[in-house]
Amino acid sequence: MVKDRIEELDALSSESELGGGQNRIDKQHSSGKWTARERIDYLLDSGSFEEVDKYVRHQCHDYGMFKNRPYGDGVVTGTGTVNGRPVAIFSQDFTVFGGSLGEMFASKIVKINSIGQKNGLPVIGLNDSGGARIQEGVLSLAGYADIFLQNVMSSGVIPQISAIMGPCAGGAVYSPAITDFIYMVSGTSHMFVTGPAVIKAVTHEDIDFESLGGAAVHNEISGVAHFESESDEDCLNGIKRLLSFIPSNNMDSPPYAPTDDPADRTEPALDEIIPNDPNIPYDMKDVIRLLVDDGDFYEVHEHWARNILVGFARMAGYTFGIIANQPNHLAGCLDINSSTKGARFVRFCDAFNIPLLVLEDIPGFLPGVNQEHGGIIRNGAKLIYAFAEATVPKMTVITRKAYGGAYCAMNSRHIRADAVFAWPSAEIAVMGSQGAVSIIRKKEIDEAENPNEKRQELILDYNRHFATPYIAASKGYVDHVIKPSVTRQHIIKTFNVIKTKRDHNPPKKHGNIPL
Ligand code: HXC
Repeated sequence: MVKDRIEELDALSSESELGGGQNRIDKQHSSGKWTARERIDYLLDSGSFEEVDKYVRHQCHDYGMFKNRPYGDGVVTGTGTVNGRPVAIFSQDFTVFGGSLGEMFASKIVKINSIGQKNGLPVIGLNDSGGARIQEGVLSLAGYADIFLQNVMSSGVIPQISAIMGPCAGGAVYSPAITDFIYMVSGTSHMFVTGPAVIKAVTHEDIDFESLGGAAVHNEISGVAHFESESDEDCLNGIKRLLSFIPSNNMDSPPYAPTDDPADRTEPALDEIIPNDPNIPYDMKDVIRLLVDDGDFYEVHEHWARNILVGFARMAGYTFGIIANQPNHLAGCLDINSSTKGARFVRFCDAFNIPLLVLEDIPGFLPGVNQEHGGIIRNGAKLIYAFAEATVPKMTVITRKAYGGAYCAMNSRHIRADAVFAWPSAEIAVMGSQGAVSIIRKKEIDEAENPNEKRQELILDYNRHFATPYIAASKGYVDHVIKPSVTRQHIIKTFNVIKTKRDHNPPKKHGNIPL
């Protein structure tokens, strides 16, 4: 009798694991995708997966649905470990009703989110779904809304990571959008609120799935996605790498990774990296790689708003969130997108106890009617807000330009940076010499016998006296003027002092960041 029951369990377990059946699994493979279970197997440490709700079935009677009630209901959920650290995970199974979400499907995700939240585990969602299960009507919508609420409640408490590994359409996009990071797989993943057919009917625009909401679009144009992956395997490797930098919850510290890279390493190449001509760009990624442990920088939002760089790296084994102006793109100016990108990253780091390191070379905010009309005021304010409210250890290195409002915005001493370093090449002033002399020395230039010569003379004079680190240093706004080659040792020595920092904002329900 018990033997029969055990055999029955084995049969049900196998049936559940087969999802929508072998034909649909074959179709999944032929479209270049792994199945929900293959993805979990690859991401989690071998043998660590503990599945929950394997025998959940839908309760829908409409459209003859009750005749087909697959075990698991189209989403595989459970817990496991990644490199030994526990995570909660759900993986949508496109082979069961196209991975569409109904009442019970949603309740499984809600349960796994709760497990993550209560136990302080990152929640990883692998999305591959046709959206709301049409046959379940408003129950599907309720399920989505339940998940949205949970995503918001978990925000800033546990890291939430979404991978889009197939379709993700309609309101379904908003759960990943509320989470902290979105991965997309090139060629097989699409995200959009309304698809090509609806767009055609409403606006008469012709567009295909890829051009509307493919991985490249959301990584380069919209900024919805943070990482673009070549394949399911590449995407899951990316998630493992991300997890290696971040803590499991907001009460935890980021993982410490001992390194052989010497804390006192000098880097003579940094003394040569700033071009003699201040108008010539250089690649700030080279600076980052020369400073951090083993040159390892995991860039976030690599393809969007490239005038600012954000990502994770380690110094002396400790995770840092790096925010850096990129002189190689738009001269490193702050514009609408780069301000939003920077602000969101700073807030993630602050929520999860990740210290900030800013590398600054910025001529100012990007001029232009599009920028002004698009709301650079509102959006630039986000970055100031994010840096100012952040209470984690914060350091800034000014490599070259720090002009105007951008000087204030980029984690200046005035908005609570704990340490500000400047290289001798730093130019810290209200504005660049060209603009400044045209305003404050206009009369002298106009009245000069040779106005051009006079202008050049005044520019040189301005640069000598104002475009240096020493006025800011004389006021204590810059703590140290340092040789570029010894930057790593200064950062690490200072971090050893400030890593135990405790700072608080006034009690409030929440602030009102300009959205
Ligand atoms: C029920 C669905 C489904 C859905 C797909 N299927 N989407 N079943 N509800 N939303 C089923 C199909 O009927 C099919 O079943 C199987 O899944 C595979 O789908 P195919 O169409 O054969 O696959 P493919 O050609 O790869 O196309 C995938 C797709 C397409 C692009 C996702 O299925 C599609 O457009 N689906 C509808 C997408 C959509 O509009 N969803 C609603 C979005 S609105 P059989 O048995 O034939 O194999 C929304 C609101 C959420 O989600 C609001 C939250 C607030």
